[in-house]
Amino acid sequence: MAAANMPLVAADDEWSPLKSVIVGRAENSAFPSEAAHMIEATMPEEHHANFRSHNPFPADIVAKAQLELDNFAALLEREGIKVYRPRKVDWVKVGGYTGAMPRDCLMTVGNTLIEAPFAWKCRRHEVQLGYSDILDQLASGDSSSAPVRICRAPLIIGQDTLYDGLLKKPEANGHSRHANGGQKWAINNSRPAFDTADFMRFGKTIIGQLSNVTNHKGFQYLQAMVPDGYRVELLETTDEHAMHIDATILPLKKGVLVYNPDRVTEEELRKHNVFRDWELVAYPFVPQKRSADCPPMYMCSPWLVLNALSLDEKRIMVEEKDTQFADWVREKFGMEPIMIPFQHVNSLGGSFHCATVDLVRES
Ligand code: ARG
Repeated sequence: MAAANMPLVAADDEWSPLKSVIVGRAENSAFPSEAAHMIEATMPEEHHANFRSHNPFPADIVAKAQLELDNFAALLEREGIKVYRPRKVDWVKVGGYTGAMPRDCLMTVGNTLIEAPFAWKCRRHEVQLGYSDILDQLASGDSSSAPVRICRAPLIIGQDTLYDGLLKKPEANGHSRHANGGQKWAINNSRPAFDTADFMRFGKTIIGQLSNVTNHKGFQYLQAMVPDGYRVELLETTDEHAMHIDATILPLKKGVLVYNPDRVTEEELRKHNVFRDWELVAYPFVPQKRSADCPPMYMCSPWLVLNALSLDEKRIMVEEKDTQFADWVREKFGMEPIMIPFQHVNSLGGSFHCATVDLVRES
C-alpha cells in the first residue's frame, strides 16, 4: 500500500500490519474523579483516596510517561508507520483524566471511526478537547482515499441518569456492593454507555463485554453505528471489576488468542463462531510482587501484561520488564517481542494497546 493512496481510516482487526496509528500523550494527566461507588468498583483499593477532582498524577511519573510515549511514537515512525498525536490539554485544570489512553475513547471499524459515549462524566470532553484536530484531518482527507465516516458520541442534555439508584449509601458493614441492590455493575441501563476499549475487532465480528462502564444500550448503540456487515457480540466474563477487555483477551495473530483464565473460560470463548478454529491459550501467569522501584499501578491489575500491541503477525510491543511474558510468546508462538520502557504509562492506566488507536491496518 503506497502512502499516497493509503486510506486514512481502514482497520478490521488487531494484528494485520499497522500502517497508521494515534499514540497518546501524558502531560497534565489527572486522577479521574467519579462517584465513589464507581471508583470502588473499578480501581485498586489501596489507591482510592487519589481519585479526587483536579488531583494531578505525580509530576515525575507524568514526565517519564511522556518520554516513554514519545520514544514509542518515534519507534513506530522509524518502522514507517504514520503517527498522529492528540493535542496537549491541561486535564488537571479542566477536571478530566488524560490524553494517554486513546483506546478508551476512539475505535476504528472498517472506514468508520467511533467515539465512545463515556459513562464517566470526567471523560466526556476527552475527544473534543484532545482529538478534534485529528478527526478534522481524517474527515477532510483527499478524495482519492476511501471516505472516512466519523460517529461522534451523542450529547447528554441535562442531568445524566446513568448512576440513578446506584450511588453508594452508607452501610453498617462497610460493604458498598450491597448498596447497589444486588446490581452487578456500577451503571444502570438508562442511556447508551460504552468505552471503546471494551471491544476488540476480529474481522467482521467485534467481541466486547458488558462492564462497569459499558451497558446493554451501549452495546446496541455500537451495533447500530458499525458499518453494514459487521456484528457485535458480547463475551461473558467473570470479572466483577470489569473495565476494558484488553487485559482479558489478546489476539497475537490471526488464529491465536491468549486469554486471562481468571476472567474468561475457553468454553465461553468457543461459543463465539469467530473463534471456532482458533487456538485459545490461557496465559499461565503468576503475578509477582512489584519491586519498590516500579511506579504504582494506580488503575490496573497485574494482568495489564496482556495489554500488548501487535505491529503485525510477528512483532508485538511488550513492556521491557515483562520478560516472563515476552519469553512465553517468543518460545510458544514464534513472536518477536519489541521491548521498550512503558511502566510510567502503565502507572497512568494502561499499556501499548490502551495508549494507541490503530487507524489503518493493511489486510
Ligand atoms: N481493567 C484492566 C485491568 O485492570 C485494565 C484495562 C486497561 N485498558 C485500557 N484500555 N485503559 O486489568
